[in-house]
Formats: sequence, structure tokens, C-alpha cells
Amino acid sequence: MIVVFLGPPGAGKGTQCKSAVDRYGLRHLSSGDILRRERQEKSDLGKKAQTYMDAGQLVPDDLIVAMMMKEFENHSDAGFILDGFPRTIGQAQALDQALKKNNNSIDAVLNLQVDDDKLEQRVTGRRSCPECGTAYHLLYNPPQKQNLCDNSCGELDQRPDDTAEVVRNRIDAYHKQTAPLVDYYQKQGNVRLLDGNLTIEQVTLKLFDIMDSLLP
Ligand code: AP5
Ligand code: MG
Repeated sequence: MIVVFLGPPGAGKGTQCKSAVDRYGLRHLSSGDILRRERQEKSDLGKKAQTYMDAGQLVPDDLIVAMMMKEFENHSDAGFILDGFPRTIGQAQALDQALKKNNNSIDAVLNLQVDDDKLEQRVTGRRSCPECGTAYHLLYNPPQKQNLCDNSCGELDQRPDDTAEVVRNRIDAYHKQTAPLVDYYQKQGNVRLLDGNLTIEQVTLKLFDIMDSLLP
């Protein structure tokens, strides 16, 4: 199964992908997570991506497409769920070509929609564990002890691009460069709408309904 998650910053892509990965045994390929790993390792790609990410702008297509193609080669054995890629028409075309070469295609594009006025609070309230990656929200999904991971790893982190100012640029980039992908995929007939304004648990149930319907 190959599933693409589309949605603005803070829509809940990462949160919902985690539930789907656990239930369907798919591989979670998050372009944002891969870029953050590259930055931590101080690789060439990480250094090139840093300025764009910190400003809330998209990293250029050539860098992203090369990075994701490498991931596909390394993980060609399993179905996957794509979180944050593709994010431009150019990236979507590159993905289509790569899948076609291997006689594969996208099973569904999940369009996770959330009203703009909710996104800033979702993003600025997010905290995550640098050790195990578990994500929290100060209001909607708080850790049991203040600022500590429930899995006893230690203190939680805040992403440097999760400030009110940067998130406005990220939302802007989403509307200008990523939202047009809904039309692109609608022409292929595989877009499924998912209301991300609901609670985390309600969205997960609706997501499972859609994904169950894709199973052979
Ligand atoms: P990326 O890491 O992909 O960030 P993003 O798209 O901005 O999305 P987020 O990770 O912020 O949001 P999410 O939808 O995953 O929300 P989450 O589940 O965490 O990209 C970062 C940067 O990398 C980009 O800005 C760009 O520079 C670069 N980049 C990445 N991919 C690229 C690409 N393909 N091309 C070019 N550049 C690229 O939830 C958010 C918070 O809300 C959490 O605290 C969660 O607990 C809470 N929450 C989730 N769902 C709900 C709910 N239903 N109700 C209440 N709270 C909720
Ligand atoms: Mg995410």
C-alpha cells in the first residue's frame, strides 16, 4: 500500500501517520523527519536545508527529490506512508515517474484539512521527545509530567521552526506551493478527504475506515 498524506503544518500528519504505521505495518517516510536527521548529522544536505527550514520555506525540489529517491531505494521492500512529500507539483511528478518505473502507483492521497486559525496553536504547543520521537501537545495531548517524556527518556524539545512567526511562513508556503496538489491528485481520482479539525482520536477512527477500505 502506498499512501500520501497532504495537509498544512500542524494538521496532524505525523500524529496520524504513527497510528497508521502501527496498525498496517507500513513504513513512515517523513521528509521533515529525514531533513531534521540530516541536520543533526551535519551532512551537506542538512547544511543546505537549514536556512530554508528555519525560515519556514520549502527546501528546493532537486535536493528533496534526490533525498526521497534514496529512501525509496533503501526501503523498496515495504508499503509506505508518505508524510510531507510531495509538496510541490514538481515533486509529485518526480514521484509518479519513479513509481511508474517500478510498476507501482499511489493507492490514496489523504487530504487532512484543518482551519488556518487552529494551526498556529497546534504548532506552537507541540513538544517532542528527542530520544524516542514521541510527540505531545501542551493542551491537546500533554505529557503526564510537565515537559518530561512519558517513556522516561527525559526532557521534551520544541522544534526551532515552531514559532508563531515561522509558522505563518510555513502556512503561506503550504497554500501557495502544496495546496495545488489536491487538484493534481483529484485528476488522478485518488483523493480522500479527512477532517483534521476533530480530536486526534476521532481523526484516527476516520483514517482507519479509509485505510481499511483500501485493503485487498
Ligand atoms: P515538516 O516536518 O513536514 O513540517 P510541516 O509540514 O510543517 O508539518 P508539521 O510536522 O509541523 O505538522 P504535522 O501535520 O505533522 O502535525 P503533528 O502531527 O506533529 O517540514 C518541516 C520543514 O522541512 C518544512 O517547513 C520545509 O522547510 C522542509 N520540508 C519538509 N518536507 C519538504 C518537502 N517535501 N519539500 C520541501 N521542503 C520540505 O501535530 C502538530 C501538533 O498538534 C502536535 O502537538 C499534536 O499533538 C497536535 N495535534 C495533532 N492532531 C491534533 C488534533 N486532531 N487535535 C488537537 N491537536 C492535535
Ligand atoms: Mg510532521
